[in-house]
Amino acid sequence: MTVTADVQAGTDVPYPGWADEVRELAQRRNAVLLAHNYQLPAIQDVADHVGDSLALSRIAAEVDAGTIVFCGVHFMAETAKILSPDKTVLIPDARAGCSLADSITVDELRAWKAEHPGAVVVSYVNTTAAVKAETDICCTSSNAVEVVASIAEDREVLFLPDQFLGAHVRRTLNRANMHVWAGECHVHAGINGAELTAQAEAHPDAELFVHPECGCATSALYLAGSGTVPADRVKILSTGGMVDAARASHAKSVLVATEVGMLHQLRRAAPEIDFRAVNERASCTYMKMITPMALLRSVREGTDEVHVDPDLAARGRAAVERMIAVGRPGGGE
Ligand code: 13P
Ligand code: SF4
Repeated sequence: MTVTADVQAGTDVPYPGWADEVRELAQRRNAVLLAHNYQLPAIQDVADHVGDSLALSRIAAEVDAGTIVFCGVHFMAETAKILSPDKTVLIPDARAGCSLADSITVDELRAWKAEHPGAVVVSYVNTTAAVKAETDICCTSSNAVEVVASIAEDREVLFLPDQFLGAHVRRTLNRANMHVWAGECHVHAGINGAELTAQAEAHPDAELFVHPECGCATSALYLAGSGTVPADRVKILSTGGMVDAARASHAKSVLVATEVGMLHQLRRAAPEIDFRAVNERASCTYMKMITPMALLRSVREGTDEVHVDPDLAARGRAAVERMIAVGRPGGGE
């Protein structure tokens, strides 16, 4: 079989009929295909459901299929396994990690908890199963504000691991008794305020869609506060929230501050809008490890199966279930 240059670059289907083959093999396995908004276009197009991390967690908790093939990164597949321990959960490449999830270990969390006895631990879903097992309630970027708002005001909160999302929540709720871990995602941290400002000045009529994990989230609000961009054109959104906002928008152009895979769903949702990445180099190597051929192998051979230690899963499940119970639907098909 000849693999095209496009596939080596990871942008297209490997050969005509690939999508039908994937779907047929998935059906034989009674498998549902879930894809995060940052996946390659070919993977998004073949999936049964595409969405943000909250939407995909909710779908994973509810689907009837015996097997979930999670086209995303490892913590997402682990979360699906925690929610559905009796199902087989596959990820097409188990090496697809996450720099944000790696920014706190369970030992670091235990030490932090010991410094703040009685504090409520809120962990972003981008964490390992071991960290979730030490967590009171998980959140995603879709519902982080609502999750922290649901905690009694007099309780201290330890929020981890993303410092930019944490700053966004603290700013929105004006909550002083919230401590934020200094972790970050290398992709979103690299989308900086200088780039956003330059792009906003070059496209003065554009709306700004900014993911709260971005290093430029504070700058976006500064641009709004200073009047450089009218406040109603600056939107801090999860990836699913961006798709909903695209459908509702009347803008001619939108600047998008997040991982570049997002552009595919945005262009599908609103083909008439000119969507531009604030940083075209903001591509997550881990998300892109889920190649079309890795997915084919996964549905053909049942690889890579995700296992979570049953004790850890049991300890993390309540925190994940609280997460999926809070907030908006979570933006997914
Ligand atoms: P969403 O929760 O907005 O999908 O973002 C998750 C994320 O950053 C995964 O890398
Ligand atoms: Fe993790 Fe960042 Fe990649 Fe999302 S974009 S999976 S947070 S490294």
